Amino acid sequence: MTAPPDAAGAGCRDPVTGEPSGIVFDDVHKAFGRHHILRGLDLRVPRGKLTVLIGRSGTGKSVTIKHVMGLLRPDTGRIWVGDDELSRMDDRRLQKVRLRFGMVFQHAALFDSMDVFENVAFPLREHTRMAEGAIRDKVRGLLAQVGLHDAEDKYPSELSGGMRKRVGLARALVRDPEFLLYDEPTTGLDPILAAAMDKLIHDTQQAHPQLTSLVISHDMAAVLKIADKISMLYEGRIAHEGTADFFRNHDDPLVKQFLTGSLDGPMKV
Ligand SMILES: Nc1ncnc2c1ncn2[C@@H]1O[C@H](COP(=O)(O)OP(=O)(O)OP(=O)(O)O)[C@@H](O)[C@H]1O
Ligand SMILES: [Mg+2]
Repeated sequence: MTAPPDAAGAGCRDPVTGEPSGIVFDDVHKAFGRHHILRGLDLRVPRGKLTVLIGRSGTGKSVTIKHVMGLLRPDTGRIWVGDDELSRMDDRRLQKVRLRFGMVFQHAALFDSMDVFENVAFPLREHTRMAEGAIRDKVRGLLAQVGLHDAEDKYPSELSGGMRKRVGLARALVRDPEFLLYDEPTTGLDPILAAAMDKLIHDTQQAHPQLTSLVISHDMAAVLKIADKISMLYEGRIAHEGTADFFRNHDDPLVKQFLTGSLDGPMKV
């Protein structure tokens, strides 16, 4: 473990929410060949809050989340998750840190051969010695929380896209993670299901106030409703960060263009 620097490390106060930082990127660079994606990224994700990372397609949002999970390593710069500096860890220690995360994948990534109950129970069976009765209570409690109490015997092929994402969220929560990451949780859902998923993300945060959540989303209407903090990724850095009100009232052309989805502005198609 390395002590974080005073100004940027985990634990320092978030400039937007005032909470201590849970995840910190300090001047992170990442290139794939000549493609320089992250160009000095400074990102702070406050503890116990819901932060949304926005930005155009291809700007590096998923690349950023993969760095948080330690699935990608920065070329230069430092990343902290709590007090742990990821950028210096070997794979064995990274595996341990990953156990503190829940991840909701874009396409749910369920096991097709397992029913809903077993999909949600899987991380408990894999990583804990919890008794069967306790597993049953935990899984059923979470399935009720995501509105799927009557679907535990169904297989993924029998579920709608929205139901699959709910199962993915229940599975991400089953080990009581400290950090919850969502990569485009509403992409591919119809507007009603997307709104229901957004509400569920919001309600999940309210129900687990210790949780530090990072959501990647394109859906600006929802972002403005659910985010405690919004960080906007542009050209490999955070161009703007603030509360929903800050973004709503911001007259920067970049922010305005992103919020309205306009073709006119600094961002070209
Ligand atoms: N493993 C990789 N190898 C090479 N290039 C990669 C790799 N991962 C991502 N990239 C490139 O990095 C850029 C950013 O990708 P990323 O998936 O982070 O975009 P994104 O912001 O999540 O976009 P979207 O909103 O479409 O999901 C893209 O140009 C992509 O091709
Ligand atoms: Mg992506």
